[in-house]
Amino acid sequence: MGKAKFIIVLLGPPGVGKGTQGQRWANEKGWRYAATGDLLREAVRQGTPVSLKAKAFMDKGELVADEVVTAIVEEVLQKADRPLLLDGYPRTIAQAEALTEIAKRLGWKIQAAVLLHANDDELVERLSARRVCPSCGTIYNLRYQPPKDNEHCDRCGSPLIQRDDDKHDVIRQRLAVYQAQTQPVIDYYQGLGLLVTVDALGEPDEVYVRLRKVRLSV
Ligand code: AP5
Repeated sequence: MGKAKFIIVLLGPPGVGKGTQGQRWANEKGWRYAATGDLLREAVRQGTPVSLKAKAFMDKGELVADEVVTAIVEEVLQKADRPLLLDGYPRTIAQAEALTEIAKRLGWKIQAAVLLHANDDELVERLSARRVCPSCGTIYNLRYQPPKDNEHCDRCGSPLIQRDDDKHDVIRQRLAVYQAQTQPVIDYYQGLGLLVTVDALGEPDEVYVRLRKVRLSV
């Protein structure tokens, strides 16, 4: 399975645990993990011209232009040499159709679209208390998964940060954008017979047990 070219799409609203669960799943399976949000934030840190435009949308909780994000994903697919877990893409129907086309052209199979599901109140709670490590990407939560001293990464010692888009108003806007623009993507994968829904409520370990049970038939 090492060099198999298949993609697992990880879908779900902001704060549902895509990064938390996706990184763990990909590590265990030996897949490449790629999150468009992380890739965009990295581009912003590097100050590329396109990313500066993107940052304005991200800070407002709006989606970045389809062609910008799709170009990033196409590059990931060109370089990946093992199965890929894709977190945060596609988020619009145009992106979903683009992924289908690119995957076909580059010889990848979309194996499954796994949807993590939780209610909005839970999502707002999780996002308000999230802290992330800017160096190694480890995700914490001051309420549910706190780092040992509340301020530094347990793994690499870097000072933790709060994402710019984890402010209350922006969180609400991101949830609204998800309903309007990403919900149809769920129907798209349902129509292709690829959708698997996983309940994301409960402890992270409980959610992970459910996720691991997803049958991928690869
Ligand atoms: P992105 O970074 O993808 O953000 P998102 O989808 O809003 O998802 P999050 O990263 O906020 O949440 P998550 O589901 O990964 O949850 P996490 O594991 O961190 O996108 C950011 C922006 O980039 C977008 O708004 C857009 O502007 C742009 N963008 C990205 N992709 C794009 C695309 N394809 N098209 C256009 N624009 C795009 O967990 C959240 C918190 O909860 C953490 O604190 C965690 O510790 C905690 N937690 C996790 N699981 C549990 C649990 N079971 N119980 C309690 N707490 C938990």
